[in-house]
Amino acid sequence: MRRCSVAGVRRPSLPPPVSVTRARAHRKYSVHVQQKKVPPAQPQAPPANDTFLATSTSSAPKPPGRPDPYALVAPQLKELRETLLNLLGSSHPSLTEIAKYYFLHPSKQLRPLLVLLFSQATNGLGSSWYLKKWAAQCEGAGGRAEELDRPLTRADVLNDWNPNMPDHTASFQTSFTLQSPRPPHQPPLPPPFPPALHVPTVESPLVLLPTQVRLAQIVEMIHVASLLHDDVIDKSPLRRGAPSAPVAFGNKLSVLAGDFLLGRTSAALSRLGENEVVELIASVIANLVEGEILQLKSMHAEELGIVGLSPKVGQENWNIYLQKTYLKTASLMAKGARAAVVLGGCKDGEVWKEVAYAYGRNLGIAFQLVDDILDYEAGDATLGKPGGADLQLGLATGPALFAWEEHPEMGPLIKRKFEQPGDVELARDLVRRSSGVERTRDLARAHADKAKEVLAVLPDSEAKEALEVLTERVVKRTS
Ligand code: FPP
Ligand code: MG
Repeated sequence: MRRCSVAGVRRPSLPPPVSVTRARAHRKYSVHVQQKKVPPAQPQAPPANDTFLATSTSSAPKPPGRPDPYALVAPQLKELRETLLNLLGSSHPSLTEIAKYYFLHPSKQLRPLLVLLFSQATNGLGSSWYLKKWAAQCEGAGGRAEELDRPLTRADVLNDWNPNMPDHTASFQTSFTLQSPRPPHQPPLPPPFPPALHVPTVESPLVLLPTQVRLAQIVEMIHVASLLHDDVIDKSPLRRGAPSAPVAFGNKLSVLAGDFLLGRTSAALSRLGENEVVELIASVIANLVEGEILQLKSMHAEELGIVGLSPKVGQENWNIYLQKTYLKTASLMAKGARAAVVLGGCKDGEVWKEVAYAYGRNLGIAFQLVDDILDYEAGDATLGKPGGADLQLGLATGPALFAWEEHPEMGPLIKRKFEQPGDVELARDLVRRSSGVERTRDLARAHADKAKEVLAVLPDSEAKEALEVLTERVVKRTS
């Protein structure tokens, strides 16, 4: 039987197989590829507490007041951003360069933040937590950080043909060599069920499992993949203050880089060893596409020969708008948070994953409603969006839908997708002369309050407080 070490030393993650030069927007996609030498692992002193888990506690005294959500997991967010790039090496340096492009400009990292905070707020509560904790400690059980990087398939099959991994590459000059069968992997025996009745208690100090950190990376990668595709569809000139990927690399490579990211996330997902999480996250990818299609349909219904989106103020327009908002934005937050709780050992019938889903769903809708307000208020210079960019795209969001209730002239503008000269300016003016922005913010606040309310079910912890603070931040944000 394999050795299980409770205080095993946390090994550093493997460095990336290739390193590419920083992407430069003005050139198309030529890069210098360097073979990076793998430095030998440095021995580390065993840390004081459970080292298989990333822990957010430090010896520094806790600052007074409520915790800052980002500060609570700042080291983990930083590390996951850095190690995420290791997942993106490929035999095509140009592909790697584009895939990394959006990670070079700091994002809000809201999705990984949500995964990390929910993990911390619920680890210890699920009835299978003891198993998940054991898998993160025990060699061969599949939950340790280094095991998440280890391929399940023989390496030369997985990387065949990848010239950047010569050690693992089967040459095409010879035929494929069959390997003699090896004895199947014998996983170590899990511990028996805890003798005492499971009492749900949040682990203290707050902890994260390696699988949960990897999930945080996966959700960010999916988000970035969707942005690569979205910037092609929206023809966005800028993203986060820099030329968008389609501007820097062209449409075709941007779409392919998004697909490549999804390929890498699929492999990383399977290693988490939890079918429910694979199902949840795969359904998010489908939701993102469904949301985009729903938006395209509502924008180009007539060209696409779609009937049924009547230009009447009413539930139907709101239903479509909110459904699209859930699919494009809230689904990733809701299912990402739920998946984090599943990875923490929460089983069916336990309330914790319901709380995570309800929180993420409401927070995501609030976040998008505020995004739609910001589009009217000042625009977003970093995105290259003047105020009213949504209107330019033909999109009627919350503020316009509310304004329509007060100004019937908005109806024909929405119907013709603000296409005629002066339509965008008129629509912005109608929104300004209505309570559309205010009412959209009220709706966002209602969703954020709902998100905060569901947290009441969780035991008190710093992570829970940080999640509460986040609901307020989302409504007040100005960028
Ligand atoms: C940004 O919306 C875009 C999204 C939230 C999702 C886009 C989804 C797709 C293009 C479907 C394909 C998905 C995958 C995973 C490949 P926005 O245009 O409102 O925001 P922006 O102003 O930041 O561009
Ligand atoms: Mg866009």
